[in-house]
This record gives sequence, C-alpha cells and structure tokens, in this order.
Amino acid sequence: MTEAILLVGGKGTRLRPLTVHTPKPMVPAAGVPFLTHQLARAKAAGVEHIVLATSYLAEVFEPYFGDGSSLGLHIEYVTEAEPLGTGGAIRNVASRLHSAPDDPVLIFNGDILTGLDIPALVATHQSSGADVSLHLTRVADPRAYGLVPTDASGRVQAFLEKPQTPEEIVTDQINAGAYVFRRSVIDMIPAGRPVSVERETFPDLLSSGAHLQGMVDSTYWLDLGTPQAFVRGSADLVLGRAPSPAVPGRCGDCLVLPTATVAPDAKLTGGTVVGEDAVIGSGVRISGSTVLAGAVVDPGAVITDSLIGARAQVGTRSVLTGVVVGDGATVGPDNELREGVRVWCDAVLPEGAVRFSSDQ
Ligand code: GTP
Repeated sequence: MTEAILLVGGKGTRLRPLTVHTPKPMVPAAGVPFLTHQLARAKAAGVEHIVLATSYLAEVFEPYFGDGSSLGLHIEYVTEAEPLGTGGAIRNVASRLHSAPDDPVLIFNGDILTGLDIPALVATHQSSGADVSLHLTRVADPRAYGLVPTDASGRVQAFLEKPQTPEEIVTDQINAGAYVFRRSVIDMIPAGRPVSVERETFPDLLSSGAHLQGMVDSTYWLDLGTPQAFVRGSADLVLGRAPSPAVPGRCGDCLVLPTATVAPDAKLTGGTVVGEDAVIGSGVRISGSTVLAGAVVDPGAVITDSLIGARAQVGTRSVLTGVVVGDGATVGPDNELREGVRVWCDAVLPEGAVRFSSDQ
C-alpha cells in the first residue's frame, strides 16, 4: 500500500491575514479544514499511512486529526524546529516511512486543490521506471510558475524557474505540486538543512542523469496560495466543480453549516459557505464567498468573492468585493471595499470609512 507525505509547514504569507492564527492547510474550505479534502482524496486513492510534515503553527494539526482513524487513515506528525523548506521537510520525515528502497512514496503540497488521478500517477511512475514522477498541469499564463518541459515520452527535460521573457515560456506545463518519489531518492536528500525540492532537488537529480517523469493531467487544478484562489477553491468544492469526498453536505449553490443562522430573505449563491454559528442578516446577498465560524453579516450587506474571517463582523449595507476580512475584524456599516483589500485581524473600520463609488 502506497504511503504519502503531506507538506503542510509553510508560513502561507500570501494568504495573510487568514494565516495569522491558522496554518494554510487548516483554513476552512467548504466547511472543513482544507487539509481534510486532501486527506480524503488520498484515502480514496488507497493511501493508508500519511506523514504530515509540519512547521508553522504545527501544534494545531494533531488535536484536530489525531491518529487519523476517523478518516480511516494512520496519520503521523513530524515537526521541524526550523523550517526546512519543501525538500528538507520531505527528508526530515524519511525515518517514519515503512516503504522499501524501490517502493513509490506519494508527496503532496498542502495547498493544492485538484482532481488528479492519483493511482494513474503511481502507475505512470511504475511503468516508466522513473526515480521521481511529477503531476504537471497546463495553465494559460505560466509566468507565475515553475515550467517543466518534457519530451514525447513524458520524460522531464528541464526545470525552469518563473519565466521572465516570452522566449522563456517554452511550455505551458507547470509543476502541479504532487509527486511520486522512489523511496531511496528521498533518503538521498541532504538532511538537517533547508532544501527546496523545486529549486535544488529536482534540478540536481536531472543533472545527475536521474529519470524524472512528467504526467500531464488536466483535470481541475488550483493553487490555493492567494486569498482569491482560496475563495474560488472553496466555492468550487461547494458547487461540485472540484472533487472531494469530504464536503460536509450536498453540493449546490451554497453550504450552510448546521449551527449557522441565515435570515429567510438572505440570498446565498455561487458556492457560498456559511460556517458554524455565523449569523447572516435580513436582505444580505452573498455570492462565491466564505463566511467563517462565528462571523456576523448585518442586514443589507452585499458580499462577493470574499472571505470573512472567524468572528468578524460586516456592518449593515457594506459592500465587499474580492476582499479578505481577518479573524475578529469589524467592518462598520456603509463601507465599500474592493478587489484585493485585506482587513487585518481585529482591525476596526468605522462606519462609512472607505468608499469607491461616487456619492451622487
Ligand atoms: P507562501 O508563504 O504564501 O508562499 O506559502 P507557503 O509558505 O505555503 O509556501 P509554498 O506555497 O511555496 O509551499 C508549498 C507547500 O510546501 C505548502 O503546502 C507548504 O505548506 C509547504 N512548505 C513550504 N515550506 C515548508 C517548510 O519549510 N516545511 C514544511 N514542512 N512545509 C513547507
């Protein structure tokens, strides 16, 4: 049975302030910590033993997932005293693996939402005899990613860091953040110091003649590293566009957790999630957004493509589009916040403090 390593120790700086109190994999998506979806998908693919490589806010994972038995998994936790980077984190958990030297070990970034056919990646790895196999996905604009050109047989030819010029965009295939490693390759990563698997391990393996195989799988794929992407991913889970066995309820236009209170005339659409004990007032319209536990949205507010943090409050008639409101923050009545605004945890915006539209 294949075992897996999940990398969940990153600081998630791009997702702040959501990651001020909560590590990125524990931020709720479609009503449960995002990591739950990945664990459930790994389980569905036949994985039983998972090692979580933790670092930032490491202490919150084990109290929530325990030994993994509620998900039918055996979960172990390994915490880095100092962050070791993606490659260092993989090396650091090697002693917990049960696999033999030639066995395949699955490795997942903890912030990717994807419908990847996991057994197909393992099968590609086995049939190609590769040392490492990578899930590749195609994106329209690859500039923000590491490019991975392959030959006709899928063998990796190069690892190109974020391309700067049009000539450098030699492929639309990018590293999608899921790998199969031959176990003995993990043992060869240098121990006890930070290592980036993307910038160091993969290029070094390639130049030493190792066989790295790419498998292009173009099903649903989203890197939830930014607030906009996180909100999109959560909505796609609720809408059923992104596959997960762990969505707590039926897929549809919205997901309201059982202890939330929603006014009968409030409109929740586009994959909106309302978390535990949240309160949604009369006449509120929320689309494609996530309202976390205990948050309060006052009457007449309009929220689109936004994330409202735990216990935050959005005042009456405020209009939020593409915004993140941190845990415990208060957006007073009659504010208008737009694209990219991030209200910090516990901040207080007075009534009518921010506007975009003209006032005629
Ligand atoms: P940003 O700070 O916003 O870039 O996010 P991040 O810290 O999560 O970094 P990135 O998205 O590049 O990380 C990819 C995956 O590796 C994520 O699942 C991280 O949790 C994980 N990761 C990154 N650095 C470390 C580390 O030093 N240790 C461990 N255990 N995991 C890491």
